[in-house]
Amino acid sequence: MRASTAAALLIGLLIRLTLAAPTVETVLTPGGYRAATSLHEIPAGGSLAHVGSEIHVLAANGTVVKKVAKGTPTKVQAAVSPLQTGWITFASWLNQGSSPISSFTTTWTVPPVPATNHGQTIFLFNSIEPSAGDAILQPVLQYGGSAAGGGAFWAVATWYLDSSNTFFTTPVQTSAGATLNGIVQLTATSGSTYTYNSAFTNIGGTALTIVGVPEQLTWATETLEAYGVTAISDYPAGSTVFSGINLRLQNGATPSVSWATQQDTADGLSTTVNTNGATNAVITIRY
Ligand SMILES: *[C@@H]1O[C@H](CO)[C@@H](O)[C@H](O)[C@H]1NC(C)=O
Repeated sequence: MRASTAAALLIGLLIRLTLAAPTVETVLTPGGYRAATSLHEIPAGGSLAHVGSEIHVLAANGTVVKKVAKGTPTKVQAAVSPLQTGWITFASWLNQGSSPISSFTTTWTVPPVPATNHGQTIFLFNSIEPSAGDAILQPVLQYGGSAAGGGAFWAVATWYLDSSNTFFTTPVQTSAGATLNGIVQLTATSGSTYTYNSAFTNIGGTALTIVGVPEQLTWATETLEAYGVTAISDYPAGSTVFSGINLRLQNGATPSVSWATQQDTADGLSTTVNTNGATNAVITIRY
C-alpha cells in the first residue's frame, strides 16, 4: 500500500469517527420517539406548574422536586404517516370560538388484547392540543411497551408533552372490558394562563394538574396511534367505540361541533362519526 493511500484511508477513518453522531437513547412516547432524558414521571399525587421558562414537577405535598427547561416550541403531534407509525386514524375538532373548552369527556371500553404480539405499541386516547400543536394533554390507554413501562397488557396513564419534555403518571394496569372515562378540564384561568386537569376519572393515580399553561388548548381529538405493527392482528379485533363525548365551553355554552376524520384506508383502519356534535357524540375506530 502506498503511503499516500494509507494516509487517505486514515484521514477517511478520522473523518468518519469525527462525524459519528453521539448516541442519543430514544424511547417511545405518544409523541413518537423522544430522548430518554426528556422523560419525567410524576410522583404519586403530584402535579406540574409552568413557571417562566421552566416547568416544575411538584410532589403531592406541593414541594418542587424537579425543574426542567422548556424547549423551543416545535410541533409535538406526529405527522400522520402512512402505514404503521404514528397517528393512524382519528377524529378531531378545533375550537375557533372566543370561549375556551372547559371540559372534554370520552368513555370507551378496553378492547381485547391483540391476537398477535410483534412488539407493537398501541395508544388510544382523547387528547387536546394548543392551536400551535406544540404540546398535548391526554389520558392514554396503552398496549405494549413505552417510555412509561407497559408490556403485553393494557395500561392507562395521563401524559403531558411539550416540545422537549415528556411527563406521565405511573401506568396503572387494566384489562379488556374495563370502562374508561377520559377527561380533560380547564379548572381555572389567571391572566393569559390556564390550569388544566386530565385523568381517567374512575382510575386512581391517573390525575394530572398543570398550572400556568401559557397556551389555550383548542384542538380535541379521538385517536388511534401505533408503532411497530407488522400485521393487522397486532391491533385488537373489531372496533373501539368512543362514546359520551361531551365538550363544554368556559362560558357555559355547548359548542357547535362537527368532527373531521382522518382515515388509513390503505391498511383498512377507519374512523366513523356515528353521532356528531358536542353532546354524547359517538365515534368508532375500526381495526
Ligand atoms: C414533600 O414530599 C417530598 C417528596 O415525597 C419529600 O421529600 C418532602 O420531605 C415532603 N415535605 C414535607 C414538608 O412533607
